[in-house]
Amino acid sequence: MNVRTQVPMIPFIDLAAQRRRLGPAIDNAVARVLNHCQFIIGPEVSAFERELAAFAGSRHAVSCASGTDALVLGLRALGIGTGDAVICPSFTFCATAEVAVLVGATPVFVDVRADTFNIDVDAIPGAIEAAKAAGLTPKAIIPVDLFGLPADHAAIAAAAEANGLFVLDDAAQGFGATYRNRRLGTFGQVTCTSFFPAKPLGCYGDGGAVLTDDDGIADTLRSLRVHGQGSDKYDNIRIGLASRLDTIQAAVLSEKLKIFPEEIEARQVIARRYAEGLRDVAAVPAVPAGLTSVWAQYTIRVSGGRRDALAAALKADGIPTAIYYPIPLHRQVAYRQYPLGRGGLAVSDKLAREVISLPMHPYLDEPTQARIVEATRRALK
Ligand SMILES: Cc1ncc(COP(=O)(O)O)c(C=O)c1O
Repeated sequence: MNVRTQVPMIPFIDLAAQRRRLGPAIDNAVARVLNHCQFIIGPEVSAFERELAAFAGSRHAVSCASGTDALVLGLRALGIGTGDAVICPSFTFCATAEVAVLVGATPVFVDVRADTFNIDVDAIPGAIEAAKAAGLTPKAIIPVDLFGLPADHAAIAAAAEANGLFVLDDAAQGFGATYRNRRLGTFGQVTCTSFFPAKPLGCYGDGGAVLTDDDGIADTLRSLRVHGQGSDKYDNIRIGLASRLDTIQAAVLSEKLKIFPEEIEARQVIARRYAEGLRDVAAVPAVPAGLTSVWAQYTIRVSGGRRDALAAALKADGIPTAIYYPIPLHRQVAYRQYPLGRGGLAVSDKLAREVISLPMHPYLDEPTQARIVEATRRALK
């Protein structure tokens, strides 16, 4: 009988391996919070914010309830709202554009580059034109550091300055990466990140943070996250949100931040092995000179309609894959009515057909990775 036995799936992201490594340290940190009972903005929150700002090299880190809220808070702190256009990529997670709509503004989609998956700076003028033609005032750009690789921040800053636009860096996937020897966290007026568990720096639930060098923006963010509070929470000076990072999550994150640099290094080794093993059978991700990625995802491109066959072959070998993102935002039901930059989004459409992400996490051991590489090569030859 030719019955194929079920192969156990290897993890796509192995949170349990990190949990085993950090077990007692995190258990003790959480126990401290359970004992002092300051569950909302307890001492661990301000301690973690200081550690996070020091790690990223920013003056302030203001934590909040999620990466999505971090972007909402950032847009609100910059005064962006009705009638304003927010330029962002379409090839990204929906939250990047969703937040523009949540504050009453309009996302205007711009194409990305095929080699970096990040915003095509040359397409920004076309997006500004499209925004103006739609009767909107272009106010901000949200570049995304997709899959962990920084966008071209120097070029984005120049385009923003030339056109009077704010920059909110969506570093939900790229936090920890470097652009010309500077960690993400100080590019643009604000940098937003997510601590969703699967992110390179993730907590044990939802969480996020906004980083800024601007004291005034930091004050506004701290007010906005507690219902627009003034001198205290019963002094309401603006409309805000209830968006705090739980003290328990801050305690977890402080422990995880201690090993984050080491984990980032481990990710580099794994990414190098993938590149060496796969570059002759697929388009492996490019890292421009002067940049480092945190490899939130390891995403290759497979052309000629072979992607589904690759995913099926790997699955049969117990290897999970993921497609980030199968439908770019400008083609999604919720977003297709918003303006597109002049010149269209052909690269976003092409990437949506070709990308496939392989298992990636700092605890991916060499024999397991060799299995993934061999199976991928077999399927693509
Ligand atoms: C690029 C990007 N932006 C924003 C977010 C939103 O983060 P969160 O899920 O913490 O709200 C995510 C993550 O899910 C993301 O990948």
